[in-house]
This record gives sequence, C-alpha cells and structure tokens, in this order.
Amino acid sequence: MYKEKILKEIIKKKFKSKIISIEEFTEACLYGKFGYYNHSNVIGKKGDFITSPEISQLFGDIIGLFILYHWKINLKKKFNFYELGPGKGTLLIDLLNITKRFNDFQKSMNIYLIEKNIKLIEVQKSNILSFNYNPNKISWLKNFSKKNQYPNIIFANEFFDCFPVRQFFKKNQTWYEKMIEIKYNESSIKFKDVIINDKKTLKQLDQYKNSEVLEISNSRDKYFNRICKHIFKFGGMIIVIDYGYKNHPGHFTLQSVYNNKKSNLLDNIGKQDISSLVDFNKLIDLGKKNYLKVEYFSSQREFLLNNGIKEREDKILKVANNKQRILIQKGVKRITDKRDMGNLFKVLVLSKWN
Ligand SMILES: C[S@@+](CC[C@H](N)C(=O)[O-])C[C@H]1O[C@@H](n2cnc3c(N)ncnc32)[C@H](O)[C@@H]1O
Repeated sequence: MYKEKILKEIIKKKFKSKIISIEEFTEACLYGKFGYYNHSNVIGKKGDFITSPEISQLFGDIIGLFILYHWKINLKKKFNFYELGPGKGTLLIDLLNITKRFNDFQKSMNIYLIEKNIKLIEVQKSNILSFNYNPNKISWLKNFSKKNQYPNIIFANEFFDCFPVRQFFKKNQTWYEKMIEIKYNESSIKFKDVIINDKKTLKQLDQYKNSEVLEISNSRDKYFNRICKHIFKFGGMIIVIDYGYKNHPGHFTLQSVYNNKKSNLLDNIGKQDISSLVDFNKLIDLGKKNYLKVEYFSSQREFLLNNGIKEREDKILKVANNKQRILIQKGVKRITDKRDMGNLFKVLVLSKWN
C-alpha cells in the first residue's frame, strides 16, 4: 500500500513530529520513494489527465515551428534542446516530425529530456524508437543541469504546476499556514491551521500586501531561477506553458486528480496527481531579475492563433479523411477553447540571445 509506506516515510523523516506543511506532504506523495511520479503511468485517457500534445498534434507542430523560427533568426548554430517533464515524448516527436526537412536545424540539436518517472522514460524511449528516431541520440536526466556551453532552448508544458506549494491565509491580521496533521498509529490524517511565528516566512508573506490567501512554491521558484541564470549565462530561451495566472485569483488552487476526476488531497495517497496553478507574475519577476527579456506572454489560445494554428489546421484538413477531420477539429477546438484550456493555460517566453 502506497499510503502506509508514504506516511511511514513522512513520520520517520520528521522524527515523529506529526504536523507537516502541504508542501512536504505533496513532495512525499509525488516524488518520495513511493510517490506518484515514481510509479505511475500518468498521462493519457487511461491516466489521470490528458495534456495538449496528447490532444492535438497541431500543438507540437506550432511549438516546433516557433522554435525553428527562433533558432533561424537568433541562433543558426549548435544548441541544447531541453524538455522538462516530457510525458510520453509526444511533443518531441511532433517537433522532430514538423522540422524533418530542416536538416541543419536537427543536426544542431543536442536533446536532453528531464524526467523523474522511470516508467515514463521507458514509454518515451519506446515511442521515440517507433517514430524511427534513435533514442541513443537523446540524453535523459533526472534534474536540469549544465552539460556544455551551447545556448539553450528549453520547453516545459504542464511541468511547473507539479511543484509542491505551501498555503497561507490571513485572518484578523494574522497569517496562518494550512498544514496537515498525521497520527500514524490511529491512521488519521487531517488539515490543521497553524499561526505563523517564523520571521523568515512572515517577511516573505509581507511582500504580498494586498493578498489574504497565498500559495507559494519555493521549490518551483528555485528551479526556475536556476534555469534563468543558465539562460543568462549561455543564451537562448525558455517556453513555459501551464495552467496559471498573472494576478492571484484570491483562493487556493491546489487540486488533486484521480482517474480524470477531481479528488480530495488527503485521499488516494501516492496514487493521485497533485498540482496547482502557476504564478506567472513570479516567473516573469525571476526572469527580469536575471536580465532576461519577456519575449512573449499570453493565453495559450492567443499564442496558438497568433502562431498560425488555424492556417495549419486548414492545410492538413485538405488531405484528411472524414474520421481524421473530426479528430483534428475537435483537438484544435479543445486546446484553443476560450472557456477551457485556451484561456486557463498561459504561455511565457523569456529569452537572451547573446
Ligand atoms: C503533467 S505531466 C506533462 C507531460 C508532458 N509535458 C505533456 O504535456 O504531455 C508532467 C511531467 O513532468 C514530469 N515531472 C514532474 N515533476 C518533475 C520533476 N521535478 N523533474 C522531472 N520531471 C518531472 C512527470 O513525470 C511528467 O512527465
């Protein structure tokens, strides 16, 4: 049982202390030895969620063409392509497919896939092999790290929403943290609101003067900051696409999903996905602090339309049969839908072309 093992791991780690932050709980549930990302095959209709590259090939086509364009204009030389959290490898395959006539581009690419999930790495290798691309030309890494001095194009779709968050709220001018109390022997696990006394945390919260409810992911900020520093030093760009906001929505956004349905955070421990909306304002701030240019920020819908998804759709519809037509149109509609993925997802591009 994952639940037993995860709770045991948490309790041991905290030397029997039983109140932990949501961040620590999520970390163990997702990335611990028995965590969700270490054993689950999480993506696709049978998994817990479905992502844009899995919904429509045109998503990868547009990203591939966008990257090719920037490489031609700004680089035209050897570079590293990093994909953070590549899932089933579908986006990379679509990118390689749409750029296959551009030999100089593909020959200039060192591909690095950053993936923690061992099962997904196997899926990625097998899918890439079926596409007739030699997986030996690709390097898999567990964490983002510097491999050489080449410039970088870094892509992340639904990656930064996986990072654990802490939840805070203000009541009668006092900040509280929503935490989790675990009584291992009684098998009881419940939320507990705790007043914050720690000066460092209070100082961090004071930066958000107008907020009463906050979610902060220190691990996400640290990871993103490292990438910004890397781009500043070696050049290139990062494209981040995720569920997210620029102005905090004023309520908690952390959610858990089990079998494609929203679930309770404290249920299905180790068996469900946990994510939260990405604070794009914070990512933009970190980019600016590292002297990167905000090349682009918009909703996913706007980005895809501005970069020619409709024109590409018209082109491939001309050679599609009836069944394919329906699938293509349904896919494009879903990823650009104003009331759904099209608006909920945001696209941020930061760059430094040396
Ligand atoms: C929600 S899925 C998105 C997959 C893919 N980008 C897509 O759009 O289909 C998140 C991916 O990131 C991986 N992942 C999550 N957190 C990670 C981390 N800290 N380091 C490396 N990979 C991670 C997961 O295993 C999975 O491949």
